[in-house]
Amino acid sequence: MEWILLELMKKPQLMRKLQEEIERVVGLERMVEELDFAKLKYLDNGVKEGFRIHPAALLMAPHMAMEDCVVMGYDIPKNLRVIMNVWAIGRDMGSWTDPEEFIPERFMDLIVDVHGTDFRVIPFGSGRRRCSGVHLGTVFVRLVTAQLVLCFDRELTIILTVALLLVAIALLLLLITPKSGAKKQSLPPSPPGLTIIGHLHKLGRLPHDALRDIANKHRSVVLLHLGLSPTVVVTSPEAASQVLRTHDAIFASRPRPLPGSSSSTVLATSASVRTGAILRSSAQ
Ligand code: HEM
Repeated sequence: MEWILLELMKKPQLMRKLQEEIERVVGLERMVEELDFAKLKYLDNGVKEGFRIHPAALLMAPHMAMEDCVVMGYDIPKNLRVIMNVWAIGRDMGSWTDPEEFIPERFMDLIVDVHGTDFRVIPFGSGRRRCSGVHLGTVFVRLVTAQLVLCFDRELTIILTVALLLVAIALLLLLITPKSGAKKQSLPPSPPGLTIIGHLHKLGRLPHDALRDIANKHRSVVLLHLGLSPTVVVTSPEAASQVLRTHDAIFASRPRPLPGSSSSTVLATSASVRTGAILRSSAQ
């Protein structure tokens, strides 16, 4: 949401277009309501573009293979951790023109579902472990963005700085490292790493960006060692589709957190791990 506002502030003509749409449909006398959404097409496009270019969970929540399987021709052994670089997938050069640019107009004639069926934009994940708050999430983002766009007037605020800090903290939490039993097979390619820390030093301050560079040099599916923990990083819509759709049941589990993680993270993750087996056998 903060990112959408930032992009709109950087391009005041887009901000004005959105403000005009909301003023025309809703007016200035009342708050935006869910019933207005059908008529707020530019708002919908702006929020989709925000989800594409600035997904809240840049590297999603990690998944874990519950059985051996093959993704994009590579063997993925049981218990291997998989993360999806949603940030890089949304900026895939093969799927978008000017992928780094915030252009809500690109969705005018393009039907893209951001709820997990179109792998070019997967801010909520897909399959059995897709975000359970997906509808609340999209309604909330649209309502608050619309309301702020009406009240805000083109000034950068401290909210944006706080949002960036929160994203950095979320990324650090994703580096929690569980055990894994990877065997020598036809595993995804792995760039040279260092002993003990593996590829951790390559992540830098913006891991999603660094991971995209690694994917550009190697493949859309690479095997990295984040400390002692082997992790597969997925960086293309095709590969994400194979993990979250073709092998949805196999990847319907999450790795266990390390001792020392915050209690809420431990609770949330262990709850997810427990539901893995149930979700695996349930119909989608
Ligand atoms: C814009 C808002 C939101 C975004 C972008 C978002 C994104 C995500 C993502 C990427 C995942 C991981 C999916 C995967 O691993 O395949 C997730 C999981 C989850 N989200 Fe959200 N989420 C949002 C809002 C919400 C809300 C409002 C709720 C609850 C009311 C919620 C509840 C959950 C839960 C419970 C999970 C874990 C699902 C599981 O492990 O099976 N989310 N979310």
